[in-house]
Amino acid sequence: MTAKLQINRKRLYEQAQRINNATDVLVVVKNNAYNIGLDLAFETFYEAGIRSFATTSLNEAVRLRKMSKEIYIFLLNPSTNFGTLREYNIAMTLPSLSFYEKYKNDLHEIELHLEYKNLLRRSGFEHAEDMIKVLEEGLLRVTGIWTHFAYADEIDSPEYGVEKQNWLKTLEKIRATEYEFQFIHAQNSASYMRDGSLPYHTHARLGILLYGSRPYNELHPESVPSVITVSTNVIQLLDLKKGESSGYSSAFKAENDCRIAICDIGYGDGVLRARAKHDVMINGKRYPIGALMMSHMLITVDHNVKAGDTVYLYNDSLRVDNYTHLGVGANSEQMSALNHNSLIKEIIE
Ligand SMILES: Cc1ncc(COP(=O)(O)O)c(C=O)c1O
Repeated sequence: MTAKLQINRKRLYEQAQRINNATDVLVVVKNNAYNIGLDLAFETFYEAGIRSFATTSLNEAVRLRKMSKEIYIFLLNPSTNFGTLREYNIAMTLPSLSFYEKYKNDLHEIELHLEYKNLLRRSGFEHAEDMIKVLEEGLLRVTGIWTHFAYADEIDSPEYGVEKQNWLKTLEKIRATEYEFQFIHAQNSASYMRDGSLPYHTHARLGILLYGSRPYNELHPESVPSVITVSTNVIQLLDLKKGESSGYSSAFKAENDCRIAICDIGYGDGVLRARAKHDVMINGKRYPIGALMMSHMLITVDHNVKAGDTVYLYNDSLRVDNYTHLGVGANSEQMSALNHNSLIKEIIE
């Protein structure tokens, strides 16, 4: 097995430090830190100066607390495991008026951030007045307020302007109560890169920008250095005659006499099927993928390719975000799929 995932920890660190020097970051480390690895991400981001972490999973929140007593941990999804939230000092979203009404007697001591629903319509309070009601009742420890934009990554969509205005107006109404928040956060990577910090915001709540992919294609690649390389080796070369096939159910059919390289990587290692519509790189040259199977990939090559040559699926020239732009799947979709159990993992310091 030669299929390999390399993570460039140095670049991960440098990017985190650069962004955290420009704005206070609440870093999103959900889903095993976009599948970079929660431990590695925590250590690197902490070293870079980030002290606030957000995840959707209570398990990950508890793991983070065991890594550091000092950091701030925010749970983006609601949990009714109130004892654990208290025990591990985990702040949590307050996702709706109905959640508040149902659990207001159980939420004592837990730090809460009011969530505004906006156009994402995943969870959150609908109206400023409902959030003000919670603040005025004064039963809970509300230290923050937040929302999540649904359209920030879509440069041409007018909805981002609408949701931003909704949010800023809502925030104005709530700030008029003179209630003081320690945390006001709304912006993901795209929103932050488009607008800088919005008024009164204490933190940018960032993920992908810190994991080596541009949230939208108009950004210069140098503003988000790539951090992962996925490669494998040619294990065998095969000459096929026109009409012959290779792989299960003739996965690849030779339209002409050709040479194919068999490589030991596949969708079982997490390479998205849609990625097979595009090229790989061998010795600096691009070659088309002929077929992608569970643990093998066939590439149409020429006589310059030899057994043992390195085949790149993702590197500095073949960036994950380039393939997102080509419709392969969201940046986080390809990253989340990479299989840490089957790929050889190498950390570049
Ligand atoms: C609630 C929330 N905030 C922030 C982020 C970070 O978004 P991005 O990776 O685009 O920066 C995510 C990611 O999905 C999210 O779900």
